[in-house]
Amino acid sequence: MKGGCENKAFLLLIIPLAIMCTYFLISSPNNFQFLFFSNCHPNEVSDADLPDFRLLIGILTVPNNYKRRNLLRMAYDLQRPFPRAQVDMRFVFCNLTSDEQREFIGMEILAYNDIIILNCKENMNDGKTYTYFSSLPQMFEGEDKRYDYVMKTDDDTYLRFNNFLESLRGKPKEDMYWGSGMPMLDQENPPFMTGPGYILSWDLVEWIATSDIPRNEPVGPEDIYTGMWLNKAGKGINRYNVGPRIYNFNGTEAKDFLPDTIAVHMLKNDFMWAVTLKHFNVTGAIKPSILYHF
Ligand SMILES: *[C@@H]1O[C@H](CO)[C@@H](O)[C@H](O)[C@H]1NC(C)=O
Ligand SMILES: *[C@@H]1O[C@H](CO)[C@@H](O)[C@H](O)[C@H]1NC(C)=O
Ligand SMILES: *[C@@H]1O[C@H](CO)[C@@H](O)[C@H](O)[C@H]1NC(C)=O
Repeated sequence: MKGGCENKAFLLLIIPLAIMCTYFLISSPNNFQFLFFSNCHPNEVSDADLPDFRLLIGILTVPNNYKRRNLLRMAYDLQRPFPRAQVDMRFVFCNLTSDEQREFIGMEILAYNDIIILNCKENMNDGKTYTYFSSLPQMFEGEDKRYDYVMKTDDDTYLRFNNFLESLRGKPKEDMYWGSGMPMLDQENPPFMTGPGYILSWDLVEWIATSDIPRNEPVGPEDIYTGMWLNKAGKGINRYNVGPRIYNFNGTEAKDFLPDTIAVHMLKNDFMWAVTLKHFNVTGAIKPSILYHF
């Protein structure tokens, strides 16, 4: 993007050409401008397009949850665009175990390219989160591929991106640990962030991939263990607790949801998903049409 306008010599070269096209300019000035200058933005504009941060969201799930993946793709794509943030989402699971999975998930990869398959056997607290974090530095090697932040979330969590991304903006990009802190006792400096959604800066992900501390204790309740690894090493100094704004599904009434929600968790079935999506007015923008009715 940058540098697209910097080559002034190029403009000098096209001036004679532009003179030859004067008749075209007179007959159709807007087209002329469009043809020759449409890619030429001042630098301020292209800088404004640069993301403030790059975030990888890993949604831990299992291969057979096709239906949930479809719902999540829609629930998140309908919240785009995300201004000034690059957000890449990947569904994360362990080795495939059937020919059906290989065919159907192969199609998902071709259609959406949003799948990461780790080298492991499906499990929840048997080290899958360790495998997730520790596999990423190899998968995204090189300055241009690495992210600022990596999130771990689940397929029963619904993120509200406006609130979520605003709470990340301007935060440090090193030694950073963000989430809903537990236990409640220490809200300033919580020992760990709960499993529905937490974030580590890239340097901490690299540390998990290389340190003996997580390698020696990969298996346990994943959220508690992530906090424990960091605490043992004195890491995750920049801790941000968004506490009550990430909460469990609490009921079907408006009072059961917070206005500044970052995430609703424990959405275990279609009913809970539908109540939550409806509360947030996700389909409010549908226009009347002769093609459908509700
Ligand atoms: C996962 O699949 C890969 C490739 O087929 C295989 O090499 C590896 O041993 C499998 N891992 C586990 C834990 O089953
Ligand atoms: C959920 O319900 C409990 C008990 O009724 C209440 O104490 C809590 O504040 C509720 N949380 C939200 C987010 O509504
Ligand atoms: C829901 O969204 C639609 C379209 O964006 C808007 O017109 C409507 O006012 C919203 N309803 C509520 C209750 O926020």
